[in-house]
Amino acid sequence: MADAINIEEGDVNLGPRRQAWQAAHIGPETRGLLAEDARWFLHQSMSTPCLNALSAAAGSRIVDLEGRAYLDFHGNSLHQIGHGHPKVVAAVKQTLDTLPFSPRRYTNLPAVALARALCQAAPIDGAKLLLAPGGTAAIGMALKLARLATGKFKTLSMWDSFHGASLDAISIGGEAVFRRGIGPLLPGSEHVPPHDPGHCAFGCQGSCALRCVDYIDYCLEKEGDVAAVIVETIRATDVQIPPIDYYRRLRAACDRHGALLILDEIPIALGRTGHLFAIERYGIEPDMLVIGKGLGGGLMPLAALIAHPRFDVGQHISLGHYTHEKSPLACAAALATLDVIADEQLCERSRTLGAQALQRLQDLARRCPAVAEARGAGLLLALELRDHNGRTAADLAEAVLYRCLTAGLSFKVGQGTVLVLAPPLNIAEDDLFWALDTVEQALKAEIGA
Ligand SMILES: Cc1ncc(COP(=O)(O)O)c(C=O)c1O
Repeated sequence: MADAINIEEGDVNLGPRRQAWQAAHIGPETRGLLAEDARWFLHQSMSTPCLNALSAAAGSRIVDLEGRAYLDFHGNSLHQIGHGHPKVVAAVKQTLDTLPFSPRRYTNLPAVALARALCQAAPIDGAKLLLAPGGTAAIGMALKLARLATGKFKTLSMWDSFHGASLDAISIGGEAVFRRGIGPLLPGSEHVPPHDPGHCAFGCQGSCALRCVDYIDYCLEKEGDVAAVIVETIRATDVQIPPIDYYRRLRAACDRHGALLILDEIPIALGRTGHLFAIERYGIEPDMLVIGKGLGGGLMPLAALIAHPRFDVGQHISLGHYTHEKSPLACAAALATLDVIADEQLCERSRTLGAQALQRLQDLARRCPAVAEARGAGLLLALELRDHNGRTAADLAEAVLYRCLTAGLSFKVGQGTVLVLAPPLNIAEDDLFWALDTVEQALKAEIGA
């Protein structure tokens, strides 16, 4: 059962291929550290036991204990500006020397400056926000605020989505690896099929009649008392990019039935898709928007719930109450991150380089029978594999991943069969195209092309 669940998620599974890779690449010092890690940390899926150990992370690269460097196209989706950006490090160091912490009941300059900057940039008119030390916590605040503001508790969210690993977040999440065997979950957390034309529950098969939105409209009507629809604007695990009409119709359905629209952009905001906020490409206004991950510059934990001012209704209750709610260190990192994104024009870069990279991947998809589809939004890129010559797409994806790791490229496999390529937005062009070549060579070597 455990293996079956791991394979669905499809990252580095505990299997023979991983063992073989470790036997070939991991020396005694690393082996010792991995054993210690496995001794002291409780084991959990996709975490401990670990694949390898790191000694450094800088720019577009991570470096393992034995000195091998890997281009990091995985980065837990927090590396929009790369690892350890000097401007972020300097801002944190400076704040560390002056205001390392700000106890509750006090505010501080970096926190207020950050709140102002995010609210003014967000595609929500007159926005206000709450900060939290992580994405899952910010999702929890959004759920509480939606209940408070609407007086209703039901939610509609998507199968195969991820919103964090706490009990409330897995209640609305739709991945078995987080949900199975751990209930009961939050009552009223209902699920609907996501927009996923390649595996459409309504049989669209790529024509995309958007029956998935019609079905949400239908469920909202039948239930009649849904507080909120929660959706990842673009699902990051396998890069599902709904067409423009999806969000127009979803917004209209929510309005028609009095449900709030909450967007989870935790891994994809801040330039990843070519916009500061991914929903900008759709031109609709959500009721709430949740961001996180790269907000802390890739080195401080920080997330934000950004909401329309009409939801400023929680004066009598604590929605977050997190110890590190207004961390001056995290806020200084976030302010520096926003500056870096603007100074280095990373949204534009994400769009331009992303378009070039997508063209390369689409060309590969046309030439390679094992590729079902190439997708991309900015520098969030995906190559979905298909079964080929008696090999499953999942087996191929795993084999390609290990070949790439050997060559010095790390990325994530999503939904078992999708190679997700998410480089830092300020990656050197040569590195980006070397990585695409490396993926292509690995794929060709696996299928004997
Ligand atoms: C879409 C999405 N939502 C929520 C989360 C949870 O964020 P955090 O790990 O910061 O709690 C993640 C993390 O991977 C995510 O990808």
